[in-house]
Parts: sequence; C-alpha cells; structure tokens
Amino acid sequence: MHYFNKSLLMFFILVFTPIIVSGATISQAENLAQQCFICHGAKGEGAGKIPELRDLEKSDIVESMLGFKTGEESSTIMDRFAKAYSKKEIDLLADYFSKLK
Ligand code: HEC
Repeated sequence: MHYFNKSLLMFFILVFTPIIVSGATISQAENLAQQCFICHGAKGEGAGKIPELRDLEKSDIVESMLGFKTGEESSTIMDRFAKAYSKKEIDLLADYFSKLK
C-alpha cells in the first residue's frame, strides 16, 4: 500500500508538472511566434531574403501583416500566413517581435 501511494504521487508529478510549467512560461504571443521562427528566426533576425523583424516598430509589423492579409501589400508567401491570424493575434505577434533585440 505504501509503495502504491508513492508511485501514484510520482505519476501525478510527472504528468502535471510539465503542463503547469509550460502554461506559466510560454505566453500566447510566444506560442504564436513559433510559427514565424522557422523563416524569420527565433530572434526575428531574418535570413537571406527573409526580412528581419526585430528592428521593426510594432506599428510597422501590424501594418505589414494587415496589408498582406488584404493583398494591399504584395508578397510571395506572407499573404498566406497573415490570413491565418486575427487582428488580436497580429497585435500580440507585433508586440512580441518588436520587443526582441
Ligand atoms: C515560409 C516562411 C515565412 C514564415 C513562416 C513567415 N514569414 Fe514573414 N516573411 C517571409 C518572407 C519571404 C517575407 C517577404 C515578403 C514576402 O515575399 O512574402 C516576409 C515578410 C514579413 C514581414 C514584413 C517585413 C518587412 O520588413 O516589411 C513581416 C512583418 C512578417 N513577415 C511577419 C511574419 C510573422 C508575424 C510570421 C508568423 C505569423 C511570419 N512572418 C511567418 C517569410 C515567412
């Protein structure tokens, strides 16, 4: 019986600790930004023909994303990504990338 309680406790610790930790450390913005890292880099540093994001003002990022979304700003690929995000999510993303240094 004693053994059983201990392993049950270990089970809960192993299963729930990662959930609690990730919930506390990864913000919604950071979570959304993961989808941009693959091209723009984990620090928004850009690569080759992919522009740097961390030097941009928040308002520039919002403007570009909304432009890509409507097609007003021409793009090769960003129109597809921009369409996937709501205005609120774009605001979170812009805030996140404009603060990376
Ligand atoms: C598949 C690669 C790829 C992904 C993923 C991607 N981008 Fe882009 N991004 C580009 C390219 C390439 C450009 C240049 C415009 C174009 O050709 O579409 C660009 C341009 C931009 C610009 C305009 C920068 C400037 O200097 O004008 C912003 C802002 C931007 N991306 C934000 C994002 C955000 C936010 C995400 C995540 C939701 C994201 N991108 C995901 C490839 C990508």
